[in-house]
Amino acid sequence: MKKVVVLGSTGFLGQRALEVIKHLASEFQIFGLAAHSNTDLLARQAKRFRPRFVIIGDSTRLTELKQKLGGFLKCAVLTGIAGMTEAVTQPEADIVIVCLSGLDGILPVLAAIEKRKRIAIATKEILVSFGKIVMQRAKKYDAEILPIDSEQVALHQCLAGNNLSLVKRVILTASGGPFWHRKNLNNIKLTEALRHPIWPMGKKITIDSATLMNKGLEVIETVRFWNLPPQKVEVLIHPQSVIHSMVEFLDGSILAQLAVPDMRLPIQYALTYPKRLPSLLAQFDFTKFPNLEFFPPNLKKFACLKLAYQAIEKDNGYPCVLNAANEVAVKAFLQGKLKFSQIPKVISQTLRAYHPPQANSSLTLKQIIATDQWAQSYCLKQITVCSKP
Ligand SMILES: NC(=O)c1ccc[n+]([C@@H]2O[C@H](COP(=O)([O-])OP(=O)(O)OC[C@H]3O[C@@H](n4cnc5c(N)ncnc54)[C@H](OP(=O)(O)O)[C@@H]3O)[C@@H](O)[C@H]2O)c1
Repeated sequence: MKKVVVLGSTGFLGQRALEVIKHLASEFQIFGLAAHSNTDLLARQAKRFRPRFVIIGDSTRLTELKQKLGGFLKCAVLTGIAGMTEAVTQPEADIVIVCLSGLDGILPVLAAIEKRKRIAIATKEILVSFGKIVMQRAKKYDAEILPIDSEQVALHQCLAGNNLSLVKRVILTASGGPFWHRKNLNNIKLTEALRHPIWPMGKKITIDSATLMNKGLEVIETVRFWNLPPQKVEVLIHPQSVIHSMVEFLDGSILAQLAVPDMRLPIQYALTYPKRLPSLLAQFDFTKFPNLEFFPPNLKKFACLKLAYQAIEKDNGYPCVLNAANEVAVKAFLQGKLKFSQIPKVISQTLRAYHPPQANSSLTLKQIIATDQWAQSYCLKQITVCSKP
């Protein structure tokens, strides 16, 4: 029986992770659950799964959580990053599912790496900003990092047993979000941007899908995961979202991974790998997809994707700046403080204003944290200027 800690258990993906663990109850057991502020759902999950650790990110909600847990206080109830770190480093914890939004998971992830846990990571923002450090430390400590993002899980399967030097290119597929076929991106309403055609998801990633920044973050995530040059990572719009990504080898052979678009499959894959077990997915029906379409992305219209390519080409902290500015810009759009079309503009301004601490080298953990903070506050200032009447 493997014991699992889920960081971000109340989110869209976290809830899917718990469904998978319930389905595979003879193999996996919940050891820890962490959320930011949703005490209602976290308490219900704790009562259902009876973990040893329950963590609430927002420490001001600790009393409220304890009240909601009521008599069920056999578990340790902790707060914040320290609480998550304590849970993931326990000797009994085997697997850590990282599906919390934002960068707060980085210290627990690094701590879990040092304890050589299996880390199943969905939070692409962590890999975009801290990917080099995460992958280097995983190598140093011989910890296992497995992806949950469906594109990376597809690549993981297509690349299995193949030498990376034999790869000509990888092709990340993108649903295109709600606007890929729209002429221009002016006057986009929040409700339209939140209506993803294929995947129900958290708000931040749904907006990222609409701007195609999500695919840009995945390009960087791919570079970090597989240590591939950015020129070998291509993006294709594939509105049916049935092919989750592809690898083309030097001889022209292309391997693709197909499945019903359902995040429970990549979560299960990261849990059971290298085994495969029956899943909750409906059987794939090829006759429902007589046409699989592919289109090149329009980088002029979707400037966020272009900015992501530029950021990873320059590297040296630029991916972190891109991610931080995007976090702030998307939050402002969700709050009605920034127009959809202004999202790439403020990110671009922030990238232009960035000066790396040193030329051509990797940033330390401390430098990345400082860069993230600088980029967030610089972007916020740009948004204040934009929103002045
Ligand atoms: N959704 C998908 O299909 C999908 C696919 C691939 C990758 N991802 C990635 O997975 C991550 C989560 O996506 P999502 O759609 O599930 O987001 P979401 O629905 O917004 O959920 C975010 C989760 O993170 C928790 N959280 C945030 N900050 C925290 C903190 N400091 N401490 C503890 N918990 C914290 C939230 O708790 P509260 O509920 O209490 O706020 C919530 O449980 C993102 O990085 C996204 O890019 C998502």
